[in-house]
Amino acid sequence: MAKFQDKVCLVTGAGSGIGKATALAFAREGGQVVAADVNLAAAEATVAAIAAAGGTALAVAANIGQRTEVESLVAQAVASYGRLDCAVNCAGIAGTLSLPTHAYPEDQWLNMLHINLTGTFYCLQEELKQMLAQGSGTIVNVASAAGLVGQPENVPYAASKHGVVGLTRTAAIEYATQNIRVNAVCPTAIETPMIMDGRRKLRDNPDKLEEAKNLQRMKRMGQPEEVADVILWLCSPQSSFITGHALGVDGGAFA
Ligand SMILES: NC(=O)c1ccc[n+]([C@@H]2O[C@H](COP(=O)([O-])OP(=O)(O)OC[C@H]3O[C@@H](n4cnc5c(N)ncnc54)[C@H](O)[C@@H]3O)[C@@H](O)[C@H]2O)c1
Repeated sequence: MAKFQDKVCLVTGAGSGIGKATALAFAREGGQVVAADVNLAAAEATVAAIAAAGGTALAVAANIGQRTEVESLVAQAVASYGRLDCAVNCAGIAGTLSLPTHAYPEDQWLNMLHINLTGTFYCLQEELKQMLAQGSGTIVNVASAAGLVGQPENVPYAASKHGVVGLTRTAAIEYATQNIRVNAVCPTAIETPMIMDGRRKLRDNPDKLEEAKNLQRMKRMGQPEEVADVILWLCSPQSSFITGHALGVDGGAFA
């Protein structure tokens, strides 16, 4: 039987990159997928790809930085599929600026903290309420290597991702005896639009791309599917004794 047969699996940021790969992977394993993104067209494209492969999925427009939209997202998941077994909080932003801490603008700091940290907190709260009511669940937060070590010239990203690791560890302890596991993944450089076309524009900058590859001992970028596989494992019964981890998906970078 498929590993997530009839499990209800919610993924935020499902319109691109790691979130999209995760939504597709859950669907391949029989999950009923709720694909959420602030970009509805992108979420719909993910759902269309799932449907074309014979899977089941629902696209939902949700900005994780808006509490009411997160409440509505979890409510729609439960209204459509009856429960919430797995939640992957993947939506996030890395900003567009590369500046040292003393020069980083406050408005951009506040926005990144709000989306990456407070938005993930909103998701966690709503998912936990549902999982407590039904008596089980697994949650994976997508933090970053920048949740474990500093990231020069992007202080709000590193601070917000360290915060996501703190959220993960705290919730893991709080619900450890209630059949709810909470873990985080901490990827290094993964080949997605965020890193290729976003702040670091690696697609247009061969030197920086080489630098990003060299961060990993494997001397290559990770692929979103390689992170998705780890996320699915953390959501599966195969990791039943693991909670509160912030797991590097790092091609040996932290070895
Ligand atoms: N790519 C990397 O190298 C890397 C490394 C470590 C961690 N991460 C983390 O992985 C996650 C996914 O990143 P990615 O590389 O796949 O990026 P991506 O930009 O390809 O995808 C991110 C998706 O999140 C959505 N999104 C952004 N803000 C949102 C919001 N407020 N509400 C709902 N959806 C929102 C975007 O529309 C997009 O579809 C992020 O949290 C990122 O910080 C990425």
